[in-house]
Amino acid sequence: MVPEHRGCVIKVVLLLVKICMRMMFAFVGAAAAPPSRRTGVREKPPLPRWKRSGGHGTASGGTGGLCVGSGRVRSRVGIQMDVKEPRQDGQATEQMQKLQQRGSQWYVNFTGFPFPLRPFFKRRTMRKEVIPGTMWTFEQEHGLGFTFVAVNIVMTVIRLQSGGLWVHSPIAPTEECVNLVKELGGDVEFIILGTYAYEHKIYAAPFSRKFPDAKVYTVKCWSWPINLPNAFFGIFADGELRNDDRSTPWADEIEQKVIGPATLGIAPYSEAAFFHKPSKTLIVTDAVVHIPRSPPEVIDRNSLLQGASDRFYSSFRTGSVEKPPRPEDFPEPSLELGWMRMALLSTYFGPYDLLNPRGSFDALAGRLVVSPVVRKLVYSRITGPLREFVLDVATAWQFTSIIPAHFAAPIAASPKDWLDAFAFVLGKEETVKLPEKDFEILSGLERLLRNIGLTPSDIS
Ligand SMILES: [Fe+2]
Repeated sequence: MVPEHRGCVIKVVLLLVKICMRMMFAFVGAAAAPPSRRTGVREKPPLPRWKRSGGHGTASGGTGGLCVGSGRVRSRVGIQMDVKEPRQDGQATEQMQKLQQRGSQWYVNFTGFPFPLRPFFKRRTMRKEVIPGTMWTFEQEHGLGFTFVAVNIVMTVIRLQSGGLWVHSPIAPTEECVNLVKELGGDVEFIILGTYAYEHKIYAAPFSRKFPDAKVYTVKCWSWPINLPNAFFGIFADGELRNDDRSTPWADEIEQKVIGPATLGIAPYSEAAFFHKPSKTLIVTDAVVHIPRSPPEVIDRNSLLQGASDRFYSSFRTGSVEKPPRPEDFPEPSLELGWMRMALLSTYFGPYDLLNPRGSFDALAGRLVVSPVVRKLVYSRITGPLREFVLDVATAWQFTSIIPAHFAAPIAASPKDWLDAFAFVLGKEETVKLPEKDFEILSGLERLLRNIGLTPSDIS
């Protein structure tokens, strides 16, 4: 192994070990902490000395994300900030009643690879009408277990001319989610899984069991690092999504294109894109994202405030800080800071400077981009098939908006925006270049996967 690669490999392995240890300590710590004599509630283990100088960022109240948590938040530097009081007026009460009528948000999940995906027990579903009577998005929170890192995950529902529903990228079928789908009227006719990615595949089977008459279509699915059959995940597909397939039952209204086949290690990489012709909407899963400057509403506000806290930063600190930070190094907790850190951690696994993430966030947010993690770990390995797919989508479909399965949706975007997002693979100059130093962790991970043979060399 090349010496410089060896250093990166060691860094990545240490990072993975650190995360695994934190997960283990989260279990052990919670079980070992004695209950408080006063409250009967288990207390957190004491913090290391250097982390104790000053209050810890906390927020009290909160209603499962419906309202912003109430109370005061104290930063490491002792600054207190007001957090919006939950509005216990008629409007808030009405919202709560509506939610209760819509059904339970309960959904248990402890699976995920390589880390479990949260929320573990309860998740809110938000429905947004994109085109009256025709198209809706459904959002839930989607996070990394045992951390406060969370983004959103988006399901798209389209009413076909038959009156039935076409569901793309199903999410957790909580009672609330299922009721929100049923409220639309019409049968769920098709459930579409346009990727093999675990975070989306995990919900296809339980969602289809709630709508047993729906037909399930998937791309050529596989799993990583062991290629398990779809049946292992409870998915019994009625059909496979193929590039430019005109024989699908929805072909008159929705066209499709599929990347590849492109070999990515042990099996072909697949992702499908769809074009809803009446609305000129492009629907993708992970191909592109548009990170909003403000956090999506579905993300729990307390998680965002935790994301801005010193404890969160200390857990994930990356790049620029070589020694334990001092209390005065920490900025005041805010939803904005928490969101910047979460967006960067979920897309880079750790940007260069998590303490002051503004520069990295500004380079990434507010425009159509390929998520750095997808770009580095997937697309950099399949540049040939990807280039063909990107150009095909841009020339065949004159879309005016895009709905991805994460972050902002829908986004006003044209084929030119799409091509700009993929400039790195088309040999074009990038409008805004992402900082190379932010890719350090992803580059190390990519080299590790290549060196141990789980991904091949570039096949373009
Ligand atoms: Fe995804």
